[in-house]
Amino acid sequence: MVSQSRHLNEKINIAIDGPAGAGKSTVARMVAKALSYVYVDTGAMYRAVTWVMLKSGISPEDEQQVLQTAQNLVIDLIPSEEGQKVLVDGKEVTREIRSLEVSSQVSRYAQIEGLRSLMVTLQRQMALRKGVVMDGRDIGTTVLPDAEVKVFMTADAAERARRRYLELKDTTNVSLEQLERDITERDRLDAGREISPLRQADDATLLDTTQMSIEEVAEAIVSMCRLYGMERSKG
Ligand code: C5P
Repeated sequence: MVSQSRHLNEKINIAIDGPAGAGKSTVARMVAKALSYVYVDTGAMYRAVTWVMLKSGISPEDEQQVLQTAQNLVIDLIPSEEGQKVLVDGKEVTREIRSLEVSSQVSRYAQIEGLRSLMVTLQRQMALRKGVVMDGRDIGTTVLPDAEVKVFMTADAAERARRRYLELKDTTNVSLEQLERDITERDRLDAGREISPLRQADDATLLDTTQMSIEEVAEAIVSMCRLYGMERSKG
């Protein structure tokens, strides 16, 4: 278990970015728990929108239609004992948004500028009261450039595919090779897009987690937060 934190009387925001499958969401959830903060999985928001578009037959090329539909959606991220629940217009889609189909299409919708503005506005609102651990691709660079602690988490692509595989193997029959292809392709699209590409913010701390356990990574981030709190209380 990650140790509980002292020295953080005033709440801060924590931004965790990085490529697909680096373990960001697991770590972000652990950090949020250790600090009694709120976890916001921004990838789940893009996935929820993608799920709706695929279901409604709206292609990413039809930007007008994507925007019009997305504007009217209500996306809720609800913390629960089994992890975060994702609801679209009141319907739970927690499992559906993790499907290979959504995973393979999400980066195409996430390139749409208007959709990103919509998501960024919602995400900033969620972080207004501080005490948020937010993970994604553009949190440190675009969504919360003033976040007090910023981390860019990476790991080798093969290791990232292995981690995703362990997560999914009991519920889907996806192969390791397929996951590695999916992850590499998503990274290519996410890092290559024009608007808010996946990039390490200049003031983010790089954590290469290839050789680290998930607990070690979470502990490292909680320590950074504690250090920040200590520095701040010194004035
Ligand atoms: O984090 P996750 O892998 O679930 O994210 C799914 C996809 O959503 C990413 O591959 C990316 O295309 C998009 N995304 C994004 N910006 C974010 C979070 C996710 O573009 N802040």
